[in-house]
Amino acid sequence: MAATPADRSPESTLAFLREGYRFISTRCERLGSDIFTTRLMLEPTICLRGRPAAMLFYDTERFQRAGAAPKRAQRTLTGRGGVQGLDGQAHRDRKGMFLSLMTPAAIGRLGQLVADEWRARIPAWEAAGPVVLYDEVACVLMRAVCAWAGVPLAEREVARRTGQMHDMITGAVSVGPRYLRGLLSRRRAEHWIGDLVERTRAGTLAAPEGSALRTIALHRDPRGRLLPRRIAAVELINVLRPTVAVDRYVAFAALALHDHPAWVDRVRGSDEATEWFVQEVRRYYPFFPVAAARVRHAFDWQGHHFPAGRRVLLDLYGTNHHPHLWPEPERFRPERFAGWRDDPYGFVPQGGGDHLAGHRCAGEWVTIELMKQAVGLLTTAMRYRMPPQDLAVDLARVPARPPSGVVLDDVRRAG
Ligand code: HEM
Repeated sequence: MAATPADRSPESTLAFLREGYRFISTRCERLGSDIFTTRLMLEPTICLRGRPAAMLFYDTERFQRAGAAPKRAQRTLTGRGGVQGLDGQAHRDRKGMFLSLMTPAAIGRLGQLVADEWRARIPAWEAAGPVVLYDEVACVLMRAVCAWAGVPLAEREVARRTGQMHDMITGAVSVGPRYLRGLLSRRRAEHWIGDLVERTRAGTLAAPEGSALRTIALHRDPRGRLLPRRIAAVELINVLRPTVAVDRYVAFAALALHDHPAWVDRVRGSDEATEWFVQEVRRYYPFFPVAAARVRHAFDWQGHHFPAGRRVLLDLYGTNHHPHLWPEPERFRPERFAGWRDDPYGFVPQGGGDHLAGHRCAGEWVTIELMKQAVGLLTTAMRYRMPPQDLAVDLARVPARPPSGVVLDDVRRAG
């Protein structure tokens, strides 16, 4: 049995927080291995990166999700009792509920709603002077996804509810007041959505057939039971929150257009070039650093021992930047996606493997569609200037984003 290389430090939590997205890759490079052991959050942990590692990690016979996510992430980011922590038949049933929402027609409708909301905002941006794209797009996405999901949202509520979605995301990786804000925002959002679930069940709120609100409120588990009100709220928030989070990718896409201006002309009017561009944004820029699971039963893999119950982290960012998978991984080159075919274990910005059988993101097609819409709108529906600002993405900060949020000035309608 090969000894699995080990991180030297007796406890690496602080190093993880300090180094962020590069924590696992830096050690893989130092140790000359895509697998090593370390201690994180006072617990022995195995870290992995690369395609063979992703194939292993998404083997649901060998790994489970129950008990894998840190409590802090459950209390803020994902909520407790949602699909992310389920295994086996319970997971498949709940995941099927999400995937039933993701028909091409429904995704197209959400894309259209986002485009309509975005266009409707352009006159206000024209009048406003400098605007922060990240903040504006967050509200555009929130309005659109609520309309799409059947969730009533008054205009005066948009900023507050969008803020709650953001708080849940940043709270998971914060300490002190930002963590507490994440907790509070989750409690308020679950209360808000829980009410809507109850009213839908009682027939006093008419959620449209096929909408996320109706589907989740009326979903029955394999034993015929409705989801408890709080769990139904957690799951509907699992649609709203990550859709708003596409704002980060939109900010990165605007940054990429700024840094690689030749692509502005290439993506304009070309669906194919837009697709490559969007995929490269998802590969190149940091979003989710890792996915976490636990070993079900002890096993050996490539000479390494995986004890039962051991926590395992798959480096998503590091796999998308693995030099054996991606030539010149630190260069932004959308053309690398020309003729590319889906690689469910080598390209994992939103997790890998199979969407239904495993934990790969249920919103991957939505994300791609909304990013394509955004790139189309940025390059054809408006003109703008980007004044001097701080755009340096810090890989030590999770979740990353351009620090300025991408400030646009002199916005004008085009096309
Ligand atoms: C903003 C871009 C997004 C990113 C970067 C992202 C990323 C991810 C990642 C890394 C996972 C976990 C994969 C794993 O555990 O192996 C995940 C799971 C999930 N995502 Fe996303 N996601 C995004 C957008 C969305 C959208 C738009 C939706 C819904 C409309 C969504 C719904 C979900 C759900 C329900 C899960 C849990 C799946 C499961 O546990 O089986 N995500 N996502």
